[in-house]
Amino acid sequence: MDYTLEKTAAADHALFPLLVRRWSPNAFSPEPVDRETLATVFEAARWSASCSNDQPWFYLVATRDDAAAFETMLGCLEDGNIKWAKTAPVLAIGVARLTFERNGKPNRWGYYDLGQSAAYLTVQAMSMGLWVHQMGGFYPEKVREVYGVPEGYDPVAAIAIGKMGDPSVLPGYLTERHNGPRSGRKPLREFVFTGRWGEAAF
Ligand SMILES: Cc1cc2nc3c(=O)[nH]c(=O)nc-3n(C[C@H](O)[C@H](O)[C@H](O)COP(=O)(O)O)c2cc1C
Repeated sequence: MDYTLEKTAAADHALFPLLVRRWSPNAFSPEPVDRETLATVFEAARWSASCSNDQPWFYLVATRDDAAAFETMLGCLEDGNIKWAKTAPVLAIGVARLTFERNGKPNRWGYYDLGQSAAYLTVQAMSMGLWVHQMGGFYPEKVREVYGVPEGYDPVAAIAIGKMGDPSVLPGYLTERHNGPRSGRKPLREFVFTGRWGEAAF
């Protein structure tokens, strides 16, 4: 059964189709993601751009076929996210390195580069019939402790990956969130400026 729910973006300009389709579902199918597909998803992150090609992105990953490892990662999430993320077949946590590998100097683009690699990962996943929901709601210090993340590396976002599942198995408010309308977006004039801060480019 395919539970894919389309919520196309009401974009004002014609976008690349996968970007129009992307949204963050709450209902995931526990159906496993095969290893090659999952490796391909992270391969996309690998080929993202980064400052000085430092590649300051790292991912911890847990799949539900290893129940203990999956529970360990699930236990790093906040309760509100556990409620829906527990059905996903794959969880990951993106970690940024905060210094350049080549010289140890602070890398103020580390978070930027990790986020960009996650965006690549997301679009690649979608091209393979998978969906992605990122989460700030997790415990970074717990991740550091459980996985032995070294100093200078910061766990930034958790990620659920998988096919969409049956929203009726979720608590009611989450079924509503999953089935509800897309959250809106501010218009270009509020964030693309030209000439001077605040002057709309479009
Ligand atoms: C860094 C980041 C952190 C997020 N944290 C959470 C979270 O903890 N829980 C959650 O349900 N959604 C979380 N989201 C999903 C956002 O709420 C969602 O992307 C936003 O509302 C826009 O909706 P859309 O992705 O469906 O377009 C997060 C997204 C990002 C990128």
